[in-house]
Amino acid sequence: MEDVLDIIVAILRAIWLMVPMLIPNSAAVLFGGGKPVDFGKTMKNGTRYLGDGKTWRGTFGGTISGMGLGIIGMIIMTLLDKPSWTYGDNYLQVLLILFLLAFGSMLGDMLGSFIKRRAGRKRGAKFPGLDQYDFLIGTLILIVPLQWVWFHDNFLDGIYLYGFIGLIVLIPIMHRVVNIIGFKMGKKDVPW
Ligand code: CTP
Ligand code: MG
Repeated sequence: MEDVLDIIVAILRAIWLMVPMLIPNSAAVLFGGGKPVDFGKTMKNGTRYLGDGKTWRGTFGGTISGMGLGIIGMIIMTLLDKPSWTYGDNYLQVLLILFLLAFGSMLGDMLGSFIKRRAGRKRGAKFPGLDQYDFLIGTLILIVPLQWVWFHDNFLDGIYLYGFIGLIVLIPIMHRVVNIIGFKMGKKDVPW
């Protein structure tokens, strides 16, 4: 039984540490608007690079929100004396990790939109799989090469691997719940 409890704690820890990656997409909905990242430009075949759903304000607001919540989480766990639930004690590295988690999430979301536009999907159209995991892929693209040791020691090593697997399993469920809330609040046009 103790093992099951250890695994549950590992999953909660993985979610906690990945809050800076999980928040930016929702925050972008609140901050979004204004100039699109692709400045409205289209490719030769007439399709938009990213579309009106990716804006500078949303990208910036999402990244800052994710990093901000990461700092708050860091302060809470430092006060509770739980260093393994923080990003470490090297402040420069902490800031870099928070940036890579939050901006990587926005980057993955934009990569997802780029692929959706190439596949002929209009803004807001569903693309199962990509919609749920694009932000995780974006974060991994940055974190794995640039903070490999941190990622390995915190998400792949020993019991922490179960935390990471649990996170991957829970992401589509969290994604669904958050989007339904956003839809009901009138912040999103579609519940996905
Ligand atoms: N948003 C933003 N900038 C971003 C990401 C999101 O401004 N980098 C805002 C936009 O207002 C967007 C909303 O958040 O409409 C929801 O985001 P998302 O579902 O990712 O965009 P969609 O409008 O569905 O567009 P796409 O089809 O490209 O995913
Ligand atoms: Mg969408």
